[in-house]
Amino acid sequence: MITAIVSQKGGTGKTITALSIASGLQKFLNKKVLLIDIDPQANSSNILMDDIDELDPLQSICTTFLNEDVIPIYESRIPNVHLVPSHLSLAEVRDQLVKQTAIPMQTILRRATRNYMKAYDNIIIDCPPDLGLLFINGLAAADNYLITANPGFFGIDAIKQIQAPVDQIKKYHNPDLTELGILFTMSESTSATAETVKALNTYFPNRLIGVKIPKGTIVKNAELSKRTVFEIDENAPVSLAYKKLIYELFI
Ligand SMILES: Nc1ncnc2c1ncn2[C@@H]1O[C@H](COP(=O)(O)OP(=O)(O)OP(=O)(O)O)[C@@H](O)[C@H]1O
Ligand SMILES: [Mg+2]
Repeated sequence: MITAIVSQKGGTGKTITALSIASGLQKFLNKKVLLIDIDPQANSSNILMDDIDELDPLQSICTTFLNEDVIPIYESRIPNVHLVPSHLSLAEVRDQLVKQTAIPMQTILRRATRNYMKAYDNIIIDCPPDLGLLFINGLAAADNYLITANPGFFGIDAIKQIQAPVDQIKKYHNPDLTELGILFTMSESTSATAETVKALNTYFPNRLIGVKIPKGTIVKNAELSKRTVFEIDENAPVSLAYKKLIYELFI
């Protein structure tokens, strides 16, 4: 099963969610997992792989978008969690691709991932914070997608704006694509959280996932030490919430 983690708004917790789901599926459900990073920021690649700075663009996901069908897969620090790393150059590759019309560029990742679906129980795609060609490739390749949202009202508009491209992707490329729901992250006992949750429930009835990811310093600690939250403290509230989410969505 291929799951894309999306949000048009930046900094809503896509990367931490992709990393936590990928590592948690392996840890708790013993799944063989592939994480594909299609964000030029390469944040999840940085956490899962050492020496990422030394990677040549052609050893990264860039090569898939340039040479089709090739997916560069690496072992990560975590056994049975494999990685297709991203690279800063992916932004240039994307901009070049947009200019050419000869190949069906929206479905490059979809065609490339077909060969690997049997080798993994789960494939998680960490998407960039936009609705551009990389996002479209992520959703065209996926069976389902999870939207992340954090406190604040800008996120509401961003979620509304996802709907039109999703409908087009379904119509033209991937009719079976389904939504897993909206995952609220960085939840706190503040009025900002309460009001955003209320608005999300009003605008998107029945789409907000029951499990909410609390705000916690463990996330920064994990990033700084290049670890997953489960490696830092599997009993921290953030880790327990991601574990619960995995059981809710993937069992
Ligand atoms: N549950 C949390 N508690 C505290 N901080 C969090 C939490 N989740 C994410 N963060 C912080 O918020 C920031 C954004 O998180 P993350 O990188 O996962 O978001 P993103 O949606 O992938 O961002 P981008 O759109 O730039 O790719 C990071 O600095 C991260 O440390
Ligand atoms: Mg990210």
